[in-house]
Amino acid sequence: MTLLRVDRLSISYSDKGKNLEAVSTATFSLAFHENLAIVGESGSGKTSLAGAFLPPKARREKKISGSIYFKEKPLWEDPYPPIAFIFQDPQAALDPTMKIGHQLAEAIFENKKARYRKALSLLDEVFLPNVERIFHCYPHELSRGMLQRVNIAIALAKNAELIIADEPTTALDITTNYQILSLLQTLQEKRGFSLLLISHHLALVRTLCARTIVMHQGRIIEEGKTEDLFAHPRHPATQKLIASAHFFSHNKELPSTTQPLEAL
Ligand SMILES: Nc1ncnc2c1ncn2[C@@H]1O[C@H](COP(=O)(O)OP(=O)(O)OP(=O)(O)O)[C@@H](O)[C@H]1O
Ligand SMILES: [Mg+2]
Repeated sequence: MTLLRVDRLSISYSDKGKNLEAVSTATFSLAFHENLAIVGESGSGKTSLAGAFLPPKARREKKISGSIYFKEKPLWEDPYPPIAFIFQDPQAALDPTMKIGHQLAEAIFENKKARYRKALSLLDEVFLPNVERIFHCYPHELSRGMLQRVNIAIALAKNAELIIADEPTTALDITTNYQILSLLQTLQEKRGFSLLLISHHLALVRTLCARTIVMHQGRIIEEGKTEDLFAHPRHPATQKLIASAHFFSHNKELPSTTQPLEAL
């Protein structure tokens, strides 16, 4: 049984009266306990694609077609699928007027006393210190790295079987970035959730995901084992992505593909 099957998913927005197709007929699947990365240049439709997994009330797109099956059942017919989201801005995902602990407790379906205990143990599970103090903090009182840990704790509270992480470490400094990466790895070994990771950070993709999808102008242009795809990118847009990442990680020479974006 596959965990996730996305079939000919198209998503469009209405932009000044015009129809803008952000995702065109995306088809892919994800096995249980598999991690899949989605990479692609800015504006290629990655976040729009992730948006299709949000509950209908939280979605922003104008038109959506195709289908998503989660554990072989139509996703949009399930009001509470075990799917959690981690976004780039850890603060935006939280309610600024509500204490951390209460936001976490809302995701726990147990009685009040058990919820408090569970919330503390979840804060502990994501390696936050002084959990009683953090329980009573408001989001603005914590660092971004701590807030991203809180978001991960909320995903755990929901017993998520799939975590969709859209640039989870981009807003964090390099050390925190690394800490969040190892936290996700540790938790995954323990909890066994699958991960759909959207990231520009190819080193992160390589570490976490055995398989990668490349998007370009709303379409999936390449898909394969991460190692093979990074070693032998076929599409010019993929080559450009990898060359740019290589430039920033080694700072050796300018990427050879320096054509303007529209040429790719
Ligand atoms: N709410 C919206 N209304 C109108 N157009 C949108 C909206 N959100 C995204 N788009 C458009 O859809 C296309 C895809 O955007 P999307 O945010 O999905 O790209 P992305 O791959 O996530 O980019 P990035 O890597 O910069 O986050 C872009 O042309 C963008 O302008
Ligand atoms: Mg995005």
